[in-house]
Amino acid sequence: MKVNISNATFSSIVGIGQKVKKASKESGEQYIELNRGVNAVTEIDLTSVMKSIDFNSKEFQVYAPNLGSESFRKAIAKEYFPAFSQQPGFENNIAITPGGMPALDLVIQILNVENIYFPKFYWGSYSKMATIRQKKFSFYEELHELDLHHINDSSCVFICDPNNPTGVKLDDDYLLEMITKITATGAIVIFDSPYRKLFYEPDNFFDKIAQLDNIIVTESFSKWVGLSGLRMGFIYTKNKDFNSELNIRLLYEFNAVSSPPQMIIERVMTTPVGRLALDDFRKKTTEHIAANIDYLKSKDLLVKEIYGDTVPMGIFAIIKRSEDFLFQHKIGAVGLDKFVYHDKDLWSSYARICVSVQHDLFVEFMSNAV
Ligand SMILES: Cc1ncc(COP(=O)(O)O)c(C=O)c1O
Repeated sequence: MKVNISNATFSSIVGIGQKVKKASKESGEQYIELNRGVNAVTEIDLTSVMKSIDFNSKEFQVYAPNLGSESFRKAIAKEYFPAFSQQPGFENNIAITPGGMPALDLVIQILNVENIYFPKFYWGSYSKMATIRQKKFSFYEELHELDLHHINDSSCVFICDPNNPTGVKLDDDYLLEMITKITATGAIVIFDSPYRKLFYEPDNFFDKIAQLDNIIVTESFSKWVGLSGLRMGFIYTKNKDFNSELNIRLLYEFNAVSSPPQMIIERVMTTPVGRLALDDFRKKTTEHIAANIDYLKSKDLLVKEIYGDTVPMGIFAIIKRSEDFLFQHKIGAVGLDKFVYHDKDLWSSYARICVSVQHDLFVEFMSNAV
């Protein structure tokens, strides 16, 4: 069989997950999986939300519209872009995707750009998707270090804030200033920040960037709503050419995205019981994240080259321990070398850990690795 080989490889995070599970099974001992990228403090309690879902409805059983359910897109507009949500048809700038990953892949496919800039510390899947789609990419150190004379409508810049893998949160005013400057050159900014709304609620940042030309928001309900299993995300842009191509690709890629998860997440965002469950999930999750980061700081485990005198926001942190060292102490973690393209050796003595886990459990394991 002749196949098109992409030369992309499996994410090392998958391999580390398997290694941790195998070691735990073979030894019968408990490991803590801080290698993962999901919130594990608590789950969102969907009991009341699910009671309001009518399984026998057309809405549940039949194809959703190509862009996604209209009421769900209106709910997203109200949640993310309250200043504009009353504008007739605003929700048509929003397209539902089965998660953030397909949203990013569609964006990479559709944009006719010659160079994609990823942050120096970046989620490895970005470059894998670019490799599969045969797009050239390079990296920027800091947003203000991008040479604005060298970027134009053939460039595209990814922003992930709070960042995966570092958990660093940039100042919003700085971020807005940089996004405004970059998009003014004609370059496109992909704002891929699925961890943000876990910490900011209500949040008016999306309103501030919504009207900029050349901004594309890719979002996910895997992180701040905690529902990665439902595979839901969206793409927002007001660019008409992009949106008409997206509409066509969505049809031939998905033939409409699954209806039930759209119904569930819409109800989480819009009903009083859904809101209560979401607030509870976010409150517990962010409290434990903050306590875990405080612990890392108190034990001087945070990497100064990355944080200076600041601390990460979450859900990740980079600590002064290697992946191997942490594994020996029954902690699953991902070496920082897996999140950089250059100077891998330099960064391999540090690791990314997910700090979105129960504080007691976190301390129980981390105290062995201090
Ligand atoms: C930075 C970033 N963007 C997007 C995603 C996509 O998440 P999903 O495909 O689960 O929506 C992730 C998941 O880990 C991520 O870390």
